Amino acid sequence: MIPKSFIQDLLNRLDIVDVIERYVPLKKSGANYAACCPFHNEKSPSFTVSQSKQFYHCFGCGAHGTAISFVMEHAGMGFIDAVEELSRSIGVEVPRETPIPGQVQHKVAPDLYELMQAATRYYREQLKQSPRAIAYLKQRGLSGEVAARFGIGYAPEAWQNLTGITASYQDASLVDTGMVIEGDSGKRYDRFRDRIMFPIINARGQVIGFGGRILDSGEPKYLNSPETVLFEKGHELYGLFQAQKAIRAHQQVVVVEGYMDVVALAQHGVEYAVATLGTATTPFHVQKLLRLAEQVVFCFDGDAAGQRAAWRALENSLPHLVDGKRIGFLFLPKEHDPDSYIREHGTEAFEQLLHDSLPLSGYLLRELSSKVDLRTQEGRSILLEQAKPLLMAISAPAMALLIRKEVAALAGITQLELEALYGVKAVGAQPRKAMQKASRPAVSNFRFLLRCLLYQPDLARELPEELLVDGPEVEAILELRSWLISQQGEVSSAALIQYFQGTAHETLMATEQAEIMQWGETFDVAAEFQGILSKLREILRKKKFDEFNHEMAGKSVNTLNEQERALYLRLSKPG
Ligand code: CTP
Ligand code: MN
Repeated sequence: MIPKSFIQDLLNRLDIVDVIERYVPLKKSGANYAACCPFHNEKSPSFTVSQSKQFYHCFGCGAHGTAISFVMEHAGMGFIDAVEELSRSIGVEVPRETPIPGQVQHKVAPDLYELMQAATRYYREQLKQSPRAIAYLKQRGLSGEVAARFGIGYAPEAWQNLTGITASYQDASLVDTGMVIEGDSGKRYDRFRDRIMFPIINARGQVIGFGGRILDSGEPKYLNSPETVLFEKGHELYGLFQAQKAIRAHQQVVVVEGYMDVVALAQHGVEYAVATLGTATTPFHVQKLLRLAEQVVFCFDGDAAGQRAAWRALENSLPHLVDGKRIGFLFLPKEHDPDSYIREHGTEAFEQLLHDSLPLSGYLLRELSSKVDLRTQEGRSILLEQAKPLLMAISAPAMALLIRKEVAALAGITQLELEALYGVKAVGAQPRKAMQKASRPAVSNFRFLLRCLLYQPDLARELPEELLVDGPEVEAILELRSWLISQQGEVSSAALIQYFQGTAHETLMATEQAEIMQWGETFDVAAEFQGILSKLREILRKKKFDEFNHEMAGKSVNTLNEQERALYLRLSKPG
């Protein structure tokens, strides 16, 4: 495996401006460099590269990361390949750590990734040796090329196939990654046996779980990795890593239900498909996909379960709609899923269906009005009742307005009457001042603190943990701090960004990263950091003082004992 310290070294030695310039011409623009974004179509440059901080951010599509992420995304390479490529470009050899056999190693997440990689290699190797598994994939219309693109493999029938991939089958990491199950008697066996294996890959190109399909008929048809430290189902999408490039190029992504749907669509040249992993479409999925493309089309199976899945996707999309971006719904004929449809009717027919997909607003109105009798007062009032929570969930102003108009028309009332009924404050009626305030929210203390830390990560060493309480950013700051303390030597902004890629905090980091790009070179981060620390200390003092007063329940100062009096004096004064 590649030692983690090497990644930091590499990022220190590279210049992101050189790396990106190999692919995209950059122009100096203020403190940064700019270009038209290579990841989405645009006419004016919103792709920005910070040379001093060694990262990039596109203010148009949200693409972001370090030199390593750039090469991964632009050239469609995996993490290891990108690191090797970049090392070669500056004539550095990638060092390898060989684990010492028998030595008990502390299992941190990166070792678990190695294990998943080894399992993937093993399953792929086994596929080559199983004529039965190969025949199954062939019969489902897959070429060797597409199987390789998705890393598809085969888990043989035996109970302890994975014996060969670690030093010991008793290794805790086998259970921690969900690859091995420990029975009540302590006996261990492989979770996946005699199944076609689909590796689930995160945004960094790392394998975090598997889906396994039975070859013939049998139950369960699919077996999936459980949720582990590596794998959170509601956050991941099957096929996204492979699809990224095509999604950006087409500015479109199709969300389907199954592994085989993604793979079959790719086989037919529709490379911009992803699948949810046996869960409903989550708000997290929607946000992620809307950042990547102009259009998201949900295409679920034609059966009743597919209809339910579509409605859930609609509900979870409403709060994240973006004016100017389109969400569509494609309902296939009852007997079809995307896999069977494209095999029977071909690519062109499928793409035509995508093109004709029902817009979210149309689907919403169709469903709402189909459940009631609009000819009666009662029916129309039920419509208004049922539409309310859905309409109120929409945060995109233009979209919300347009749908309110349509629902009002269906119910035979005016838009103003509907808005009064729902308690919607008309946008134009808001006082000017309030609007201005709302559009430029004050940055919370912790957000600002996080920005300082991104700008100069080493400041985190001076950050007292006791100040980190109550705040949505605190979890990220704590993780940043503990990672930084575990590192030797200075840590760059780029190394920090790289560390958070593909983690739950990636989005937050990307947002704040975009903010600090606007900070000039003269920004006195040390002073700002001290400033925010004293603010936080003051907040903590006030809180403790309140608690103290509460505990003492109105005792007079004169009746306090010596200890209490000292505490009182300390807590009562600012600074
Ligand atoms: N699924 C699952 N467990 C099951 C069945 C389904 O986790 N027992 C999930 C899988 O992610 C699967 C998806 O739901 O890919 C869709 O299921 P289904 O439509 O039944 O499977 P297909 O993808 O159509 O698979 P195939 O064509 O191989 O039958
Ligand atoms: Mn299917």
